[in-house]
Amino acid sequence: MRLVLLGPPGAGKGSAAQVLSDQLGLVHIASGHLLRDAVRAQTALGRQADGYMQRGELVPDHLVTAMVLEQLEAVAKDRGFVLDGFPRTQAQAVELDAALGRMKMLMDRAIYFKTSPETIVSRLAGRRVCQSCGANYHMTNHPPAVADVCDRCHGTLAQRDDDKPETISQRLKVCLRETEPLLGYYRERGVLRTVNGDESVEAVVRHVIAIWEREQLRFGERR
Ligand code: AP5
Repeated sequence: MRLVLLGPPGAGKGSAAQVLSDQLGLVHIASGHLLRDAVRAQTALGRQADGYMQRGELVPDHLVTAMVLEQLEAVAKDRGFVLDGFPRTQAQAVELDAALGRMKMLMDRAIYFKTSPETIVSRLAGRRVCQSCGANYHMTNHPPAVADVCDRCHGTLAQRDDDKPETISQRLKVCLRETEPLLGYYRERGVLRTVNGDESVEAVVRHVIAIWEREQLRFGERR
């Protein structure tokens, strides 16, 4: 199964991708995680990306695309994968399709997480992220067993810099601007499907798996 997850910040793409990856053995590639790692490590890419991310703007296409495709080619050649946060623009989607073509693969489905503004705001305000392993929590929806400590690795949990109210509103504006053309791109190719992002992670994952089963998509099969 080769999936792209699309949707606004806080739609639950990362949480669902993690479960899909654990349940189905898919490689999970998250552009936001890769960028935050690069910023933490102060690589050349991280230094370039930092300001854009702090302001809630998109990092320029050429920087993100090279980073994600390098990762995809390294780990997903013979495996199913789930892309979370990439592509974000039509230009990124075109580059992704070209790279998959070179790897003799096609994208199976693009899943759009349609999510209400109220849900987005409450999820982003309550999100806490492990500073060591990147695991996601929510103060009320999905709290850790011990406050501010990661269940998986005992790292410290903190709010993401871009989950502050002023940055959230900029991220939502950018998302509104970029989403329709991207949905149009995948709609035209007949691979776009929509799930209700307001539902629980378990329900969303069930819907994605049901789409896969209903449409008999098999990993490794070229349409
Ligand atoms: P990125 O890290 O990709 O952030 P995002 O797309 O804004 O998405 P989020 O991570 O905020 O939300 P999510 O949908 O994954 O929700 P999550 O599962 O975490 O990007 C950050 C920045 O990097 C961008 O602003 C940009 O600058 C740059 N960037 C990244 N990719 C780029 C690209 N391709 N091109 C250019 N720039 C790029 O859930 C949120 C919270 O809700 C969590 O607390 C979770 O526990 C909870 N939750 C999740 N699902 C549910 C549910 N179903 N029910 C209840 N609670 C839930």
